[in-house]
Amino acid sequence: MTVVYGSMYDHTRRMADAVARGAAAAGVPVAVVDAGRIHPSFVLAEAWRRRGLVLGAPTYDGGILPAVGAVLRLMARKRLANRVVGLFGSHGWQGGAVRKMADEVAEPRWEVVDKVEFEGAPRREDPARGAELGRQVAERVTD
Ligand SMILES: Cc1cc2nc3c(=O)[nH]c(=O)nc-3n(C[C@H](O)[C@H](O)[C@H](O)COP(=O)(O)O)c2cc1C
Repeated sequence: MTVVYGSMYDHTRRMADAVARGAAAAGVPVAVVDAGRIHPSFVLAEAWRRRGLVLGAPTYDGGILPAVGAVLRLMARKRLANRVVGLFGSHGWQGGAVRKMADEVAEPRWEVVDKVEFEGAPRREDPARGAELGRQVAERVTD
């Protein structure tokens, strides 16, 4: 599984770690990629290698954090197909990133297994929700 995320204050990053832990516990190898630091072409190459794909982004101006949005559009343009997908993200108030990611992944017709949205920093119960998301995607893939 590839976990691709972006994060400004670490909230979404902490959830990415929880997702990865959940998938690893289910026996699926996981690569975690920070879209804010790795060039989109390399992020795409990582996503290409594995069928499981979990995307995480905080809401930014009512939408997806730009670094993650750019990667998503590149994946669509390069016709990355046949992916089992989980979505997660943090928001401060109204949110929007998770909803918009769901809209964007509807286009390549990826199978969205589940979505996890949370406010601000992950609270006590949130890492378990992230781990469960990772487990659910991991159950449907071998890589
Ligand atoms: C420039 C900027 C724009 C933001 N825009 C929104 C927004 O439109 N809606 C919202 O609910 N939260 C918004 N937020 C709040 C973040 O989504 C929130 O702080 C989130 O927990 C950050 O997660 P992160 O630490 O993974 O970056 C914004 C934050 C920043 C810095």
